[in-house]
Amino acid sequence: MSPYKTVAVLGLFFALTRAKIYDRCEFAREIQTYGVPADQVAVWTCIAQHESEYNTAAVNWSSGDHGIYQISELYWCSTSGTPGGGCNALCSQFEDDYIQDDTACAQLIYGQMGFPAWTTYQYCNGDVSSYIAGC
Ligand SMILES: *[C@@H]1O[C@H](CO)[C@@H](O)[C@H](O)[C@H]1NC(C)=O
Repeated sequence: MSPYKTVAVLGLFFALTRAKIYDRCEFAREIQTYGVPADQVAVWTCIAQHESEYNTAAVNWSSGDHGIYQISELYWCSTSGTPGGGCNALCSQFEDDYIQDDTACAQLIYGQMGFPAWTTYQYCNGDVSSYIAGC
């Protein structure tokens, strides 16, 4: 393999496995740029805190939940080689540090089921202003 190809392959490997821990304000600001309505931002920030502690690489192997929003492989994404589930996505897409696709899937789930699709919504179903305070 040429040195150039080696660099390209390693670059792809790291790109696919990149993980990131968001700061809560960074998360709150970024999801708004992806079209999340302003009046939902504090709730999502609370949900992400309780689901993953803002870790984009979080995976719960026992429940099959993936990424910062802990999106379920039972309904919304596929663990086989081809995209699938309600979000027509690979679950592994939800484990990298690019969260626009995760956010789009979370919005689709929200549109069908509302916030109660997340069991952690029980912690976010009240005054959540502290999650975006000072942001
Ligand atoms: C993983 O999922 C199980 C089943 O839903 C849950 O009981 C457990 O708390 C989850 N683990 C973490 C670290 O969130």
